[in-house]
Amino acid sequence: MCGIIAFAERGSVAPHLIKGLERLEYRGYDSAGLAVMSDSVIRTCKTTKRVAELEAKYNSAPFYGSVGIGHTRWATHGAPTERNAHPHLSEDGHFAVVHNGIIENYEALKAELLNEGHVFKSDTDTETIVHLVQKYYRGNFLKAVLNAAKRLEGTFAAALMCIDEPDTVIAIRNFSPLIIGIGKDKTVASSDISAVAEHTKKAVYLNDGEAAVLRPDSASFYNFNGEPVEKELTVLDVGSGDYGKNGMAHYMLKEIFEQPDAVRRTLGAHIKNGEVAFDFSLFDGNAVRNIKKICFVACGSAYHAGVAAAAVFRALTGIASYAFIASEFRYMEPMTDSSTLVVPISQSGETADTLASLREAKRRGARTVGVVNVVDSLIAKECGDVIYTCAGQETAVATTKGYTTQLAALYMFAIWFGRELGALAAEREAELTKSLTQLPHALEIVLRSDAHAKKHASDLKDASSMFFIGRGLDYAAALEAALKMKEITYIHAESCPAGELKHGTISLVEPGMRVFAFLSQPVTASKTVNNIKEVRARGAYTICCAPQSIAERLTDIDELIVLPDIEPLFFNIIEVVPFQFYAYYTALARGCDIDKPRNLAQSVTVE
Ligand code: AGP
Ligand code: GLU
Repeated sequence: MCGIIAFAERGSVAPHLIKGLERLEYRGYDSAGLAVMSDSVIRTCKTTKRVAELEAKYNSAPFYGSVGIGHTRWATHGAPTERNAHPHLSEDGHFAVVHNGIIENYEALKAELLNEGHVFKSDTDTETIVHLVQKYYRGNFLKAVLNAAKRLEGTFAAALMCIDEPDTVIAIRNFSPLIIGIGKDKTVASSDISAVAEHTKKAVYLNDGEAAVLRPDSASFYNFNGEPVEKELTVLDVGSGDYGKNGMAHYMLKEIFEQPDAVRRTLGAHIKNGEVAFDFSLFDGNAVRNIKKICFVACGSAYHAGVAAAAVFRALTGIASYAFIASEFRYMEPMTDSSTLVVPISQSGETADTLASLREAKRRGARTVGVVNVVDSLIAKECGDVIYTCAGQETAVATTKGYTTQLAALYMFAIWFGRELGALAAEREAELTKSLTQLPHALEIVLRSDAHAKKHASDLKDASSMFFIGRGLDYAAALEAALKMKEITYIHAESCPAGELKHGTISLVEPGMRVFAFLSQPVTASKTVNNIKEVRARGAYTICCAPQSIAERLTDIDELIVLPDIEPLFFNIIEVVPFQFYAYYTALARGCDIDKPRNLAQSVTVE
C-alpha cells in the first residue's frame, strides 16, 4: 500500500524519483507526488492521476536538483486530492515530508500546533509531522526530526528534507516498512525492496524507533534519542524478479500463467529425494510435540489459504487447527501460549494486521513459523522460522500465484508436521508427497482451459450479483473465488458454506442468478448436490466445478467445469484457477482496470 522513495545523490534526482514511483505503483495508490531540493528551494509536483501523468507534468516544467523525496499515497486522512497529496511542506517552505502510515494522535498534535499559530494546508494526518519539525528546529535538522518523531503515535515511515542541509534526506520509521540502500555516490530510502534493488544491492533495514541520515556518500543511523546505532549491511536477494508483463495484456494474466513454475519452485525448495524437509532454526521435532493448537493468521486471500490449511492440518496432524482473520485475531482473546503455533501467512510480508498479530502472539509466548513470499520482509524477519513461498514478484493487486504458492507451502508444512508428530504413516506420507510433486502438472492442464471463462464473461459482465458455495475445503475455494470476482469486476460476489444458504442467504437467489458450486470433496459432495437442487428450484443457473470422478456422477446441473482428479486434500490449488480466469475475463469485458482495481492496494500497511 502506497510507497516512499527518496534519494540523496549527485545527479539529477527527479527521473530516479519518477522511475522509483513507477516501481511502487503496483502497491496501489490514489495520488502521487515528488519534491526536489532545487537552488535552495523545495519544489514539488503532484497529481491525483497516475505516475505517467506526474512524469508528463514534471517534464512540462522540470526543475533540477540532486536530493528529493517521492510518494504514492493511499489516502487514509483526507480525500485523494492534489491538496492532500504528499510531499507536504512546512509553512515557511523550509521542510518537506512524505509519509506512509497513520499518525494516530494527529488530532491532538494538530490542535496544539493550531493553537501556536501554525496554518495547515491539507486534511492529512501527515502534515502534522512537518509542522512539528518546524516547531522544534533550532538549526539542527536531525534533532528537530527526532524531537518530532518522539511525539508521534501510530505507524510511520517518513522521509524529510530541509533547505539548510540541501544534500541530506532524513528517514524515520515506526512499524511501516522502510529500507535504506547504500550505493556508489547515492543513498536511497524506500518502502519497497524492488525500488532499492534497482540502484544497489547493499541495504540496511531500519528498525522501529530508528532514523537514517542520508547523504550521497554516507548513511548514518540513530535511535530516536539521537544515539548512534550500528546497523548490519544486508545484500538484497530480489530473486528472479521479472517486472515486465512478458507480452501479456496484464500482470494478473501473466501471473496466472506463472503458477505451475511458481508452485514448482515452492515445492522444489523443500522436497528432497521424495521427502519434505525444512531447515528451521527454532521449530524442530521436539517443538512439534509440544503443540496443542495451531492458528493460521492472515488477511484476504492469505486468510483463505489459512482456511484451507487449517482443514489439511486437522486431517494430517489431528491437532486443533483454526484460521483467523488477522484484524480480528489481534484484538480478540487469542488463547495462545507456548503450546500454540501461530502461522502468519503473507505474500507481501508487510500487512499491518498480520504483523501486529504476530507480535501479539510472540508476546504471549506462542511459537511462530511464517509463510511469506517477500524475502526479508518485516513478517519474515520477525517470525522465529519462515517458509518462503518463492512465488517471485507479484505485481497485480489481485493475487493468483501468491495464493497458490501459499497453499503449496502449507501443504508441505502439514505433511512435515504430521510426520514429525508421528501422526502420519510412512506410506501415506510418501503418497501425499508424490501428489504434491504432481501439482505443477495438474496446474498446467487446468491453465489450458480458459475457454469456458472466456465464453461466459460476456454473460457475467452484466450480472449484479452471484454466489459461490461449497463445504469444508470447497468453502475455502468459494471464499477465494468470490474475492477474485468482486475485487477486479466490482460485481457483488458472495461466498457461503453450501449448507448455510437456507439459513438466510437463499432469500437473495433470483431466477437467472449465477451460482457457482464446488464439489471436490468425496464426503461432502453429495450434500452440496442437495444445495444445488435448492437454488435451481428457485431459478438459479448453476455452474459446478468438480474433479472427473465426481463430475461424472452429477446430474441436474446447468454447467460443469471438470478438473483432473488429484489428492482431494490439495484440490484447492487447482480448483481456484478457473475462477481466476472467470474474474479476469469478466473484468476485461467490463473494461475494469484489472491490475489496479479501484480502492485497493497490493500491500496493506495500515491497520
Ligand atoms: C487478494 O487478491 C488481495 N491482494 C488481498 O486480499 C491480500 O491477499 C491481502 O491483503 C493479504 O496480503 P498479504 O498476503 O500480502 O499479507
Ligand atoms: N495517512 C497519510 C495520508 O492519508 C498517509 C497515507 C499513506 O500511507 O499513503 O495522507
